[in-house]
Amino acid sequence: MNNVQLVPEKMEYQQKIEQLLDQAFGVNRTSKISYRYRQNVSAIQELSWVAMHQEQVIGTIRYWPVTINQQHLALLLGPLAIAPEYRSSGLGQRLTNQTIEIAKKLCYHLVFLVGDYAYYHRLGFEPTIAYGIFMPDEKPERLLVRQLISGFINKVSGPLCKFEASTARAAG
Ligand SMILES: CC(C)(COP(=O)(O)OP(=O)(O)OC[C@H]1O[C@@H](n2cnc3c(N)ncnc32)[C@H](O)[C@@H]1OP(=O)(O)O)[C@@H](O)C(=O)NCCC(=O)NCCS
Repeated sequence: MNNVQLVPEKMEYQQKIEQLLDQAFGVNRTSKISYRYRQNVSAIQELSWVAMHQEQVIGTIRYWPVTINQQHLALLLGPLAIAPEYRSSGLGQRLTNQTIEIAKKLCYHLVFLVGDYAYYHRLGFEPTIAYGIFMPDEKPERLLVRQLISGFINKVSGPLCKFEASTARAAG
């Protein structure tokens, strides 16, 4: 869809973003395990983008900081949601690819998410099981990772932990 613009999130979009997320994931979405990593932690501003069509927010993507084993800083992608009437036109992939390019420039090494491999494999995500990285209480096969620096993942293992500013080493 050529007339859809991807732009950084603004405060004034918050209400529409919340509506989109409720529509995509249900009003009980905040009870999902991945939301434990978002409580009292801010989304990374440079990676919070929306898709706009005719001045309406029709898609949203956000990323949160997490750590692997309380040591290595990484990203947790999500939520990603597209308004139902705009799905299957490549917007989910556009939003993800564009923000991942920014994440590379910000020197992040690994992007995790909880989601369907059937969708996210086309965006370069793979299961974390083989690497010994897991999200406590989450189904192991749903934790996926995309490597932004090839080979870095072999240097880390353990649980994904909530971000605490005092424990994470910068970007890796
Ligand atoms: C998942 C989502 C973000 C994809 O956005 P999108 O803009 O429609 O995606 P794209 O246009 O980039 O890709 C569409 C393709 O992904 C497929 N797809 C979408 N969700 C999928 C899923 N959960 N599993 C497998 N395939 C999926 C579509 O069938 C379509 O396939 P096609 O290209 O063969 O027709 C969007 O559908 C959405 O907001 N869904 C609600 C939230 C949700 O269900 N998330 C589950 C994934 S964790």
